[in-house]
Amino acid sequence: MLNEQFNTYLIDSELQDGSVSWQSPSNIALVKYWGKKDGQIPANTSVSFTLNNCKTITELSFSKKENNNQFSFEIFLDYEAKPEFSPKIETFFKRIESYVPFLKDYHFIIKTENTFPHSSGIASSASGMSALALCVMSIEKLHHPDMPEDYFNKKASFLARLGSGSACRSIEGDLVVWGTHPEIEGSSDLFGVKFPYAVHQNFKNYNDTILLVDKGEKQVSSTVGHNLMHNHPFALKRFDQAQENITKIKSVLQSGDLEEFIKIVESEALTLHAMMMTSLPYFILMKPNTLQIINKIWEFRTKTKLPVCFTLDAGANVHVLYPEACTDQVLEFIKTELVAYCQNGHYICDKIGFGAKKL
Ligand code: DP6
Repeated sequence: MLNEQFNTYLIDSELQDGSVSWQSPSNIALVKYWGKKDGQIPANTSVSFTLNNCKTITELSFSKKENNNQFSFEIFLDYEAKPEFSPKIETFFKRIESYVPFLKDYHFIIKTENTFPHSSGIASSASGMSALALCVMSIEKLHHPDMPEDYFNKKASFLARLGSGSACRSIEGDLVVWGTHPEIEGSSDLFGVKFPYAVHQNFKNYNDTILLVDKGEKQVSSTVGHNLMHNHPFALKRFDQAQENITKIKSVLQSGDLEEFIKIVESEALTLHAMMMTSLPYFILMKPNTLQIINKIWEFRTKTKLPVCFTLDAGANVHVLYPEACTDQVLEFIKTELVAYCQNGHYICDKIGFGAKKL
């Protein structure tokens, strides 16, 4: 399915070589994307906080080549050649080729690094694919210097989505919606859009401390997990629930109702994992320490009445979410009571961020 708004018009092929660089953040979904249709179309709408510190930095160098029948690239992570990433990049290039037809005209060197440890169990596909998509867009912009910023961002998100669904939510900040929803103006299945309404002060500088419970490779990839939503007995109900949660969180983000925010976000996290546990084949990505941390957070919240909550992505790590106003108390709680459940005591302090930056 071609989306004509993102076709590239004729390119001036004078451009011989050069290099472009971007840094792009990770994001954490509040209402989760889990389940998709062909062409990386989400089964439901999702919304995420863009992060600030967990990011990928990518430099894309290009030089004109003779033979333009195939893609040609080399990829380095932290200065080390990573030929094992090639199939992923090849798939990405194939998916986006019709929108950026100059890809086969150049040889590319992709140099990438993450600000978070590679083996942290933090998914790098959102930050990695969005950084690469932005670099590709920067090359397109070199051919078309007058490209409007709005189109640039939209198409970067569109291309990033074709690399990894959640990557389309990493271009901008601080809150991004992906997936058509009747109550979110401008929302689309094809790209992420900045949450288009005023966000309450309570959510400004919101913290996300990521507790690294298990830094190992996941046993089941997100892509496999998404596919298990086909023929899943609860899928349709789940997709409806997500749409309803978007309606609810839309008003919560505007009103600043933290109690309601917590209910939606924690329920979304547990529902995501409930979908995994009820797939066929079923699987569990949480670890015993994931549950220990969740229980500790609930105890702490009951005792202190502080609006701290958790969310999970497709892994065992716990994202602890809390407003700026209670940073000191929650950090103290994390250090004294939660660090013991983290692998090697590791955690990452992050907060809501404002999107990718050109370097
Ligand atoms: C649980 O975006 O990694 O983090 O589109 O197959 O690359 P692909 O999947 P991916 O899935 C992310 C799933 C999630 C929830 C979310 O980020 O919304």
